[in-house]
Amino acid sequence: MRRSHYKSVILGTGSELPSKILTNVALQKLVDTNDEWITTRTGIKERRILEEGRSNADMAHRAALRALKDAGLEPKDLDAIIMGTVSSDYPFPSSACVLENMLGARKVFSLDVNAACSGFLNALAVADSFIQTGMIKTALVLGSDVLSRLLNWKDRATCILFGDAAGAVVLGASNDGHRGILSTKLRTDGSYVKELYVPAGGSLKPATLETVRKNEHTITMNGKEVFKVAVRSMEEISREALDEAGVTVEQVALVIPHQANLRIINALAQRLKIPMSRVMVNLEKYGNTSAASVPVALDEARRQGRIHPGDVVLLNAFGAGFAWGAAVIRF
Ligand code: UT7
Repeated sequence: MRRSHYKSVILGTGSELPSKILTNVALQKLVDTNDEWITTRTGIKERRILEEGRSNADMAHRAALRALKDAGLEPKDLDAIIMGTVSSDYPFPSSACVLENMLGARKVFSLDVNAACSGFLNALAVADSFIQTGMIKTALVLGSDVLSRLLNWKDRATCILFGDAAGAVVLGASNDGHRGILSTKLRTDGSYVKELYVPAGGSLKPATLETVRKNEHTITMNGKEVFKVAVRSMEEISREALDEAGVTVEQVALVIPHQANLRIINALAQRLKIPMSRVMVNLEKYGNTSAASVPVALDEARRQGRIHPGDVVLLNAFGAGFAWGAAVIRF
């Protein structure tokens, strides 16, 4: 429920894609796979891989500078930095703190949100809530992940899916009742934790020679289960977010879904009864970039002129946890 007369409006967006491209054909040299299988099962043709020596916060920094420039603001104008990520530079402190230092933002509080592929939706909902209460006026909200560093490059079921990227949005408080974030909805179901997770490296199973030898610091996934629950859950939460916003599917100008698998996106569009011409898809170029996928696609959609003033845009995502969410925004 909306609690005050403040709404969060998007003042700017930005993204960063590492320049190194890994194509499906190149992957054929690493694992027993082929371009045809990856393309037909996922829609992905290539993904970006962060260069050695560069960090998640590094990537987020570039996305943040672009979003701030787009918003016409400077780091000193920020009240908060909230970053969705599961691949932070260090186990602690947060990547948001590392980023804060890189930006030279000095009057902020910064925190990471751990919600895997729905990290950005969660970060957006947190920042939006702070803005609605009047606690802050301006926030930098990011989704940024380097899953290439958490992959078992011998596991063809996972290593072909993911890529690295960062996306950022600058949110500002507004009294304009018409524009802004109209609703956010979040959900989790912890009974699925082990369907998609990194088994070791946390406090339960710290790193040992054995965990490294057994590849337990890399992503383990039951793809079929993720697929099934993702389609159903994203449809459900999208409808809830639209209901709360008082908007119908027909009024949605563009859906920006999490970019994990083209078959998931097609199924979602079919269930929502929305034509693919009103759905943003860029996963063929970047693969699944985890928390970055939605803000990167949002930034790209804006730069392609696919979002106009007054347009209603629906964002949604699903991932490990399982955690999923949706947001409705009027531009
Ligand atoms: O953001 C949230 C994170 N994750 C997701 O959203 C992922 C959701 N799941 C998916 O996208 C799909 O389940 C996958 C793309 C991961 C897999 O597609 P699938 O249609 O569910 O394939 P499958 O796992 O059932 O595998 C089918 C066959 C198997 O061979 P057999 O048993 O039929 O002989 C696999 O061994 O395809 C084989 N296979 C591959 N073959 C070539 C699995 N991975 C590959 C591969 N290349 N990379």
